[in-house]
Amino acid sequence: MSYLTVTNAIKQFGGSFTALSGVSITVERGEFFTLLGPSGCGKTTLLRSIAGFNDLTSGEITLDGANLRLVPPHKRDIGMVFQDYAVFPHLSVFDNVAFGLKPRKVPAAEIKTRVTEALAAVRLGALADRLPAAMSGGQQQRIGLARAMVINPHLLLMDEPLSNLDAKLRVELREEIRDIQKQVDIATIYVTHDQEEALAISDRICVMSAGQIEQIGTPQQIYGNPQTRFVAEFVGTLNSLTDNDALKAVLGQLRLSAPGASWAVRPERLGLGEADAGSSDGVVAVPGIVGKYTYLGREAHVLVKTAIGELVVHLSNPGIEATRQPDEKVSVLIERSAPMAFDAAGKRLPAAG
Ligand SMILES: Nc1ncnc2c1ncn2[C@@H]1O[C@H](COP(=O)(O)OP(=O)(O)OP(=O)(O)O)[C@@H](O)[C@H]1O
Ligand SMILES: [Mg+2]
Repeated sequence: MSYLTVTNAIKQFGGSFTALSGVSITVERGEFFTLLGPSGCGKTTLLRSIAGFNDLTSGEITLDGANLRLVPPHKRDIGMVFQDYAVFPHLSVFDNVAFGLKPRKVPAAEIKTRVTEALAAVRLGALADRLPAAMSGGQQQRIGLARAMVINPHLLLMDEPLSNLDAKLRVELREEIRDIQKQVDIATIYVTHDQEEALAISDRICVMSAGQIEQIGTPQQIYGNPQTRFVAEFVGTLNSLTDNDALKAVLGQLRLSAPGASWAVRPERLGLGEADAGSSDGVVAVPGIVGKYTYLGREAHVLVKTAIGELVVHLSNPGIEATRQPDEKVSVLIERSAPMAFDAAGKRLPAAG
């Protein structure tokens, strides 16, 4: 049995609105598990249900085999880190972290040892006596992390801990969180709506939409093999291909078919060729005209108008010679493995031919 199991969780608010409609997840010991989805999809609701701040309308939650719904919140031994730093401004860094241990009647000497360890883990050891007001957002969030860890929790829950920080600090701190989590080896559920953050730090990602699970998988599975159109669009970007005779010809050449499907392809799976590039076995060259060339440093985005739709092509490490002018004739190169097929409900279809 998995370490944490949530089975068929349903949460209704006010008797009519359903925030979670039958969610099931499992989290293993030491696993970094991320809930990823747009605002309002139920991420916080699920986290709060596990912490015990709200109770499910129905469903089961077990931790290490025990029924968690029978355990009052303060006895669940779950550490939480929130979006706002929630530090006490009048307490030193040390006392902020020690705060969680006070109601647990931990002897003073042990408090000292454990707080010192937790502060070392988040690299705040040297700042133990400071007041939080004199500290950066990233440092304040590390206080929150140390306070959650110091109780030696069975589970660590983090609800968008980095969303109040600027982009550069977010990237730095997410690497730190990942390292600390692996070092302390506590099963962690992390909430974010930032797809790159989720890909960077997770062992597995659970993509949610409107109170339901779209897909659970490793970052590679979620990004590389999305099972629904929602996942493919939310984690990455997608070109929709126009359903017409030109597309039928392209799919025919690639020996791809999926009856009744709509087709899409990721921009980075497309290539850009010269106007006279020919098709070969496994690669089709679709002629088109450049609409726009956007240089972004590490990559360039080329919008090409073709008979199967306006396709954005992502080029990586574009040199000066890669630059294209509007109205230039080019072709878009599509490999057999690039197009993805979805049914009318958005479910991925096998694209065999
Ligand atoms: N106490 C409540 N009473 C009524 N509705 C609620 C309550 N808490 C949450 N909701 C609703 O449940 C839905 C899910 O909310 P939740 O906070 O779980 O979303 P979220 O995925 O965490 O979104 P965000 O990314 O914005 O934090 C939302 O439509 C929200 O308005
Ligand atoms: Mg939330």
